Amino acid sequence: MELLLSVIHGHGLLAAFIFLLVNLSPSSSLSQGNGLPRMTSNIKEVLGKSFDYIVVGGGTAGCPLAATLSEKFSVLLIERGGSPYENPTLLDKKYFGFPFLQTDEFSSVAQRFISEDGVPNLRGRVLGGTSTINAGFYSRASADFIKRVGWDEKLVKEAYEWVESKIVFKPLLTKWSSAVMSALLEAGILPFNGFSWDHVAGTKIGGTVFDSDRKRHISADLLERGNSSNIVVLLNATVKNIVFQRDGNKSAVRGIRFIKSNGSINQTYEAYLSQPENSSQHGDVILSAGALGSPQILLLSGIGPRGHLQTFSIPLLLDLKGVGQDMQDNPGIPLIIRAKPEYRLPEPPQVVGIAKDFKFIVEGFVLPVSFNATTLMRVSIKLAFPESKGKLELNSTDPRQNPVVLFNYLAEEKDLRECVQMVQLVKKVARSRSIARFLGTKPRINVTSNPNELRNFCRKNVRTYYHFHGGCSIGSVIDRDYRVIGVKGLRVLDGSTLSESPGTNPMATLLMLGRYQGIKILKERENGSAFGSQQHP
Ligand SMILES: Cc1cc2nc3c(=O)[nH]c(=O)nc-3n(C[C@H](O)[C@H](O)[C@H](O)COP(=O)(O)OP(=O)(O)OC[C@H]3O[C@@H](n4cnc5c(N)ncnc54)[C@H](O)[C@@H]3O)c2cc1C
Ligand SMILES: *[C@@H]1O[C@H](CO)[C@@H](O)[C@H](O)[C@H]1NC(C)=O
Ligand SMILES: *[C@@H]1O[C@H](CO)[C@@H](O)[C@H](O)[C@H]1NC(C)=O
Ligand SMILES: *[C@@H]1O[C@H](CO)[C@@H](O)[C@H](O)[C@H]1NC(C)=O
Ligand SMILES: *[C@@H]1O[C@H](CO)[C@@H](O)[C@H](O)[C@H]1NC(C)=O
Ligand SMILES: *[C@@H]1O[C@H](CO)[C@@H](O)[C@H](O)[C@H]1NC(C)=O
Ligand SMILES: *[C@@H]1O[C@H](CO)[C@@H](O)[C@H](O)[C@H]1NC(C)=O
Ligand SMILES: *[C@@H]1O[C@H](CO)[C@@H](O)[C@H](O)[C@H]1NC(C)=O
Ligand SMILES: *[C@@H]1O[C@H](CO)[C@@H](O)[C@H](O)[C@H]1NC(C)=O
Ligand SMILES: *[C@@H]1O[C@H](CO)[C@@H](O)[C@H](O)[C@H]1NC(C)=O
Ligand SMILES: *[C@@H]1O[C@H](CO)[C@@H](O)[C@H](O)[C@H]1NC(C)=O
Repeated sequence: MELLLSVIHGHGLLAAFIFLLVNLSPSSSLSQGNGLPRMTSNIKEVLGKSFDYIVVGGGTAGCPLAATLSEKFSVLLIERGGSPYENPTLLDKKYFGFPFLQTDEFSSVAQRFISEDGVPNLRGRVLGGTSTINAGFYSRASADFIKRVGWDEKLVKEAYEWVESKIVFKPLLTKWSSAVMSALLEAGILPFNGFSWDHVAGTKIGGTVFDSDRKRHISADLLERGNSSNIVVLLNATVKNIVFQRDGNKSAVRGIRFIKSNGSINQTYEAYLSQPENSSQHGDVILSAGALGSPQILLLSGIGPRGHLQTFSIPLLLDLKGVGQDMQDNPGIPLIIRAKPEYRLPEPPQVVGIAKDFKFIVEGFVLPVSFNATTLMRVSIKLAFPESKGKLELNSTDPRQNPVVLFNYLAEEKDLRECVQMVQLVKKVARSRSIARFLGTKPRINVTSNPNELRNFCRKNVRTYYHFHGGCSIGSVIDRDYRVIGVKGLRVLDGSTLSESPGTNPMATLLMLGRYQGIKILKERENGSAFGSQQHP
């Protein structure tokens, strides 16, 4: 399946990358961008203090949520990684994909994990979360999805627009993206819908977080939209668990316990929720630590399946069997094309093909495979509605260690059958005349056409599209207001709450959801119904 043309050599890019890394003196790490809230790694600034809301994880959903809550309330946003604003290479499109090449156990901005399926995967460990390292393709959820989850359509639209007006752009199509676009049309993924945020069948140009100066915009930019004097951002601090108190016969959240991300697991610190006299004035700890992080923190806090918590001697707070269940990832099949030197710049996707009744999503992108600018072009396809599900469990009581995740890719017969169909489609795209014309040679894609062999091909070549989700599902872990069932003052809001990856890609909807639920919480507080009363069962 590999098309070998020529491998690029060059040291320029490596030199630039190293220069920029070396140039970042640690002492500059606390300088601020325009309009951003106070950021600190100094634990003393929050130790023992109280806030109306504590948002755990300064990622894709966490930043818009914290910004929105800060319009009326004091907010602590706590993030295990550092600030991306100190590292210009991170926000430069030229270096898209470079963080994936440089991962370590405790400090790299991209944290690697390998699911039990054996498929390597990634998540962000930096302010902005995975939006700081991802491919930045922006596409809204379908109207159908929004109906199914029961969100308020008007508020959803306003929340998408709030995000888009600040950090989303219309891409200038590169030659490669134009070639991919033609290839999608040639493969019959029709109609052509031009530029659109919407989830519409056919081929379209989507939004991007990269602006015309090749600068990446991230969820954390949205913090500028909040009241910065009401937010404290604590960086390089990893939340270990939630601190509880009794409230009648229910457990209520008192605050959080955390460690320095590079410190000892035994040296812990705490910060608290404000304790107003009137309990309807009470805020929440909101976990926005991602599909791996949020279920992990619940488990470390004693909220999860009893038997599993016993294995790690974690005192049980609440036997909530759904925590860590229903983990899903969309099976993806990448066809790889080695590129000529003139195409050596890494390129995120700009166009997408949405085929076969929204079942298959095709994109093309260029990723670096080394710091010396060796890139691989890929045409990649994902299965949008897989049935196979897996689970997440702890592997350690250290919150910095990855939990154990199993996605069970293609375990269900239907997923395998659909994988065979989608390989046939992506092959058509990769073998199109448009791609051949772009490459100046006919691509040789060595993929069998025998359906039985294709089943094996699928099993062997299944990869992630990086849209994994689940672990804190609505109905089993949280209610429709994203409150953890059976605990007061605790919510979850991020990719762990999704039962499918919405739209073509989930980032847009997670950014939107942070804003949307923030507004809902503000309105709820105006009504004076936040804490204790009017809860869903
Ligand atoms: C390589 C890659 C490419 C992708 N490309 C696209 C794309 O082009 N378009 C798209 O729509 N989607 C894309 N995605 C998917 C999308 O980026 C993610 O689904 C989304 O960003 C997840 O958002 P989240 O808020 O759930 O979690 P995150 O954004 O990951 O945020 C979680 C945050 O919590 C922090 N955290 C975790 N645990 C703790 C703890 N214990 N204490 C403190 N902080 C903690 C993390 O450091 C992180 O900042 C891509 C993903 C990857 C990995
Ligand atoms: C570029 O990197 C690749 C993979 O790391 C390596 O095999 C190759 O020798 C490098 N080329 C040069 C010119 O350094
Ligand atoms: C925060 O962590 C990052 C990543 O490990 C590191 O580069 C940075 O220097 C740290 N900042 C502080 C102030 O500790
Ligand atoms: C921001 O918050 C501060 C402190 O609570 C308050 O004094 C100020 O009026 C707020 N600004 C806006 C624009 O709401
Ligand atoms: C909890 O206490 C309240 C009043 O204190 C009572 O009405 C309710 O039945 C109790 N619930 C449970 C589950 O014990
Ligand atoms: C953690 O990082 C801080 C700031 O960068 C540094 O001062 C401290 O020595 C580090 N601690 C450890 C244990 O590495
Ligand atoms: C933390 O404490 C435990 C038990 O008290 C001890 O076994 C362990 O070595 C300590 N770890 C570190 C990193 O200090
Ligand atoms: C679980 O922990 C063990 C021991 O530290 C380690 O060898 C293994 O790789 C971990 N598994 C995962 C999935 O991280
Ligand atoms: C294609 O791949 C198959 C199996 O991997 C291999 O046996 C065959 O020789 C390859 N054909 C070409 C033309 O490379
Ligand atoms: C606020 O109260 C009004 C009137 O009771 C109700 O219609 C509305 O749904 C409430 N809004 C929220 C967010 O609770
Ligand atoms: C608590 O606050 C709400 C909203 O401000 C108010 O409607 C309610 O009367 C207060 N209750 C008490 C007991 O003070």
